[in-house]
Amino acid sequence: MKGIILAGGSATRLYPLTTVTSKQLLPLYDKPMIYYPLSMLMLAGIREILIISTPGDAPKFEDLLGRGENFGIKLTYAIQEEPKGLAQAFLIGEKFIGDDSVAMILGDNLFYGNGLGHMLRVAANNVGRATIFGYYVDNPSDYGVVYFDRGGIPVSIEEKPKESKSNYAVTGLYFYDNRVVDFAKQLTPSERGELEITDINRLYLQQGDLDVKLMGRGFAWMDTGTVDTLLGAANFVKTVEQFQGIIISAPEEIAYNMRWISKRKLLESAKKYGNSNYGKHLKRVANGKILYSENIGERPYWGRNDDDE
Ligand code: TTP
Repeated sequence: MKGIILAGGSATRLYPLTTVTSKQLLPLYDKPMIYYPLSMLMLAGIREILIISTPGDAPKFEDLLGRGENFGIKLTYAIQEEPKGLAQAFLIGEKFIGDDSVAMILGDNLFYGNGLGHMLRVAANNVGRATIFGYYVDNPSDYGVVYFDRGGIPVSIEEKPKESKSNYAVTGLYFYDNRVVDFAKQLTPSERGELEITDINRLYLQQGDLDVKLMGRGFAWMDTGTVDTLLGAANFVKTVEQFQGIIISAPEEIAYNMRWISKRKLLESAKKYGNSNYGKHLKRVANGKILYSENIGERPYWGRNDDDE
């Protein structure tokens, strides 16, 4: 399975913060925002990832993340000339996707919760079907909304309904089989001029091939599109990290626990991050001090303290 991080858009709701920089490069407490969605795709076991951004911002992502060598993955970059909708990602990424299945995550979405890694890997292995996630929200009209019948089966999906009888928003994380490219080609722009991901989901639903997994209250899902949600998400990360004394969504740590990078490589990264808490965290991981990582594996994972050069 391939992965796409969609990190373009105009982020007008964050002006003037985003006048000269990309939303997804802004700090989310202690790390650039894109570290969070990147971590999610890696937790799902995906090692080939395309980052799509604006003509002005794509080079900055490459400056930050390179070709992925520090994370044991392969990163490539593509440009979305104008924000013509989330589903355009599958047209821009057609060649990259090739014959594979693909997961897409929005570059401004934060997910956190126990068992998330497992949930992601189940979705990644849902062969020949699509998986999206529903999350209870108070303001469903701001999102794509999914409606269920009494048996909990998804029956319809609507984009930003004026009034909604369902409170289940579709989160910005989607797993599709290879049909998604053809589905994206069939779309016509909506009234707001965008190729809508909701229309893709509807096509899967019509084929009976859409699984909607609910993320319950044990999970946090936040998008960071407004100054308040941006600050709220940063405070959330700060709270979790300070209470637990660990860093969340560190791609190098995930790469190490997945055995995609060596201990030496991890220590090199730790050194690069210097005296920051992030750097210290990576050093503790490399030295075997943080043994249990709840998001890796279906059973307690006892880290690595082997020297595997
Ligand atoms: P939005 O938050 O809907 O849009 P935006 O980021 O441009 O913000 P604003 O409404 O403040 O102008 O987009 C959700 C995510 O998808 C975000 O990470 C940006 C990204 N995006 C693209 O990369 N390309 C697109 O065509 C669209 C519509 C969004």
